[in-house]
Formats: sequence, structure tokens, C-alpha cells
Amino acid sequence: MTEKTFPQKQTRQTTMFGTYEFSSYEEIMEVYAKEFANYILPKGDTIFGFWMQTLADLEFLDLELQGLTDEYKIDPVNRVVNLKGDEDYIRLRIAHLEKVKGKTTLYTELVDKFGDTNAYAFHNLYPYKGKFYPRVVRTLINAFKLNNDSLLFDPFNGSGTATHEASLMGIKSVGIDVTPMGIVLSELKNDLLFIDDQKLSFAPKELQDILQAIENRRWEHSDPLIHKLMLAVYFDTVDAFVRTSRYNRKGKVGLFIEKLNYLRDCYKKTMEIKEKYGLKFEPAQIIEGDILELKNMSEMEEKFDACITSPPYYFSIDYVGKDKIAYDYLGADMKKIESKYLGMKNSGYPKNNYNGLPPRVAMYYEDLKESTKNIFWALKPGGKLAIIIGDSTVSGKKIPTTMTTKKFCEEAGFKFEKLIFNPLLGARNRAIRGESVIICEKGK
Ligand SMILES: C[S@@+](CC[C@H](N)C(=O)[O-])C[C@H]1O[C@@H](n2cnc3c(N)ncnc32)[C@H](O)[C@@H]1O
Repeated sequence: MTEKTFPQKQTRQTTMFGTYEFSSYEEIMEVYAKEFANYILPKGDTIFGFWMQTLADLEFLDLELQGLTDEYKIDPVNRVVNLKGDEDYIRLRIAHLEKVKGKTTLYTELVDKFGDTNAYAFHNLYPYKGKFYPRVVRTLINAFKLNNDSLLFDPFNGSGTATHEASLMGIKSVGIDVTPMGIVLSELKNDLLFIDDQKLSFAPKELQDILQAIENRRWEHSDPLIHKLMLAVYFDTVDAFVRTSRYNRKGKVGLFIEKLNYLRDCYKKTMEIKEKYGLKFEPAQIIEGDILELKNMSEMEEKFDACITSPPYYFSIDYVGKDKIAYDYLGADMKKIESKYLGMKNSGYPKNNYNGLPPRVAMYYEDLKESTKNIFWALKPGGKLAIIIGDSTVSGKKIPTTMTTKKFCEEAGFKFEKLIFNPLLGARNRAIRGESVIICEKGK
């Protein structure tokens, strides 16, 4: 039997220009990359970062430039800045520019290396609810002209974004928070900047055993850093499983190991940047405590050059409930925490009637008022304050926390300077439509 063969049709495909020469994949990608770079990068030597998207960002840029140089002009249409001053210093500090005088800024390097505008260094250690954007903290540190002689304060330090960003910028800081989880996380972010890299090396089998020990509630380690780190990674792992079935294939062990490897990678990248730019990190002091009892710590009086902080927004997030897994494990007294937590107090009555607001909201306001007084007491004369706060909507009623906080600041003795509204875009029924940064000064 003979096999039938059909003559192959000999057609040569041509390009749209009638040539037979096709570009290689690499050539196409190179042309695209150039086109993309031209499209996305403004033309000039001192240019906006791609993350500058809103009018609030423009105000933040203006604010930080005021702190970093005396002479500058922002051109928002062409997304460039004309500036004079200490270029190297500006390049190391600024949070909204991609390049200064043709050279990449440190912040851009962080964004590129970590692939994110927020999750650099150890900021992404744990998904603590209601975290700051590190970029806003950096901007305010610049605006307040803080340097390595300054001391920054965050009395609602949460997971330690303000103290961590200050450490990365070489600025000393003190952070206070009422929740044990906040303390664990901010201490970890702090300590991880100063450890030896071998400390984070674990074989997969070792990690498997550690996970098992934690699950059996017999996890102990002589080094408090490793002890806390493994617990934080475990809480994050368990929380991820509770929220979604996406990780089922990976399994708990797989995810636990992956998260630990991620943190090792963060360590490596952070140290590479530290080396490249010759940075000097500053450790922060972390204190578990209640802002309302601040005056019991007499050494805190007129101690700080600036305060950058964000109190809980009324009822926007169940901050404590969110970390229930951790608190159950740690055996923390949730009732006790809630009895000190602004906006969560369930007993007692307000001293004043705030235009008929529900008693719980009124109590929240009274605590907020007391907090601003305590911050005033803790700042040096001439000290700066930035409070980041949002209005929430509860049962269809707007809780006007922003303007109330501004009023409390003025009543405490602060001079109001500026309010920047940062919108949070999204669904119509969002409980929080945006956040405001209220900036004040304590008179000299
Ligand atoms: C909006 S969060 C701050 C988050 C923080 N900026 C961060 O980046 O993680 C508010 C914080 O206030 C803390 N807090 C609530 N009541 C407090 C009190 N009486 N004293 C000190 N901290 C308190 C909460 O534990 C929570 O961490």
C-alpha cells in the first residue's frame, strides 16, 4: 500500500510592509518597552512618581517640598518639578518624585524593588487593619523637617507604620498602643531591621516542626524575636485560611513556609538598599499603654518634636475582633482591651451631650478630646501634629469625626494649619469615603 502524500503549499508569509523579515520577540519587546517608557515617564529631570494620581497627592508633594527645600515650582500638567537645594538629601527623603535631577530617588528604588508603593521593608509583615500608608508618614516627616536629632511620637501606633518608617529614615521615635498584637508587630518591624541574616535561616523541615509546635501550643524559643515572628506568621497563615479556600492546595505548612520566605526576602532587599545608600536605621521605642493615661509617664512631657498619628475611626473596623485568633492563642483579655479602646467602650456615660449623638459616640469623642490634650502636653513648644482621621457612617448617620477632631485640637491649644482630604474611591455604600490629614502646631 502506498501512502498518499499531498504537495505542501509553499507560501511565504509577508509582514504588512511586504517584507519577509519578521522581528524577533526580543525586538518587539524592546520597542514596546521604549514606547511604554516614553508614554509613562514625564519629560524632565525631576519628575512625578507614577503613584501620584490624585489632587491630594499633589498637596502632599507640595507639603514635603516645603520641608525639603526653599525654592521649587511644581508643574502638574507636565508632571515635573523645578527645584534648587540639596539634591542628594531630597533624593533620599522625598516620597512623590521618581527622579531628582535625573537620578532615581530612594523611594522609587523601594517601590521598584518591592514592587509596591506600600509594602516595602517590613510594612507588609501582617495585615493589621487600619494601617497608615507609609508614604503619607514619610511625607509628613519631611514636611515637619525632622532629622536625626528629632523625636517622633505615635500614641496610636497600631502595627507600627509610623515608627517603622521613622526607623528607615534614621529618625528616633516612640510608639504607644493599647493592643498586645500592635505591640508584637511594631516590635518585630523594629527588631528585624537590626538582626543578623542567619537568624532567619530555617530548613523547611524545621519550619514544619515549628508550625506543629505552635498548633500544639508548646512553641517556645529562647530568642524573643524568633518566638514572636513565628507566632505572627502563624496568625497570618491561619487568618488567610479562615478567609478563603484559595490556599487549600498549598496547605497550611506550604503557606507558613511561603510567608516566612517572603519575610526573608524583605530582609534581604531592605539590607541591599541600606548598603547601597549607606542608610543608618534608628530603633524605635515601643510601649504598651493607654494614651488616656499618658500623663502618668511624667518623662513624656514636652518630649517630642512631632506627632503623626491616627486614632481609631468610630466603628469603622472591629480592630480587636479582627485579631481574635491571635488573642485567643495569646490568652489576652479582650474585655480589658476593649474597656480602654477608643470607640469600643461598652460601659459608662458621657459627661456631655454632643448634639444628641448616641452615648457611645459621645464617649468616643470625650476620649478623643482627652487624647488631643495629652498629645499637646507631650509635644515641645513649636511641635507639629498630624492626625489622620475619617468620618464614618453608622446606621445611615454621618459621624463628623474630622471636624470634631479639628475643634478638639484647637481647644487643646493647637494652631490649625492645614487639612488635606484624601478620597478613598469605591462603592457608594462605603462606610469611610476618605481620610483627612489635619495638621497643627503647638505655639512656641
Ligand atoms: C487606626 S489604628 C492605627 C494604625 C496604625 N497607624 C498602623 O499603621 O498600624 C488605631 C490604633 O489605636 C489603638 N488604640 C485604641 N485605643 C487606644 C488607647 N486608649 N491608647 C492607645 N492606643 C489605642 C488601637 O489599638 C489601634 O491600633
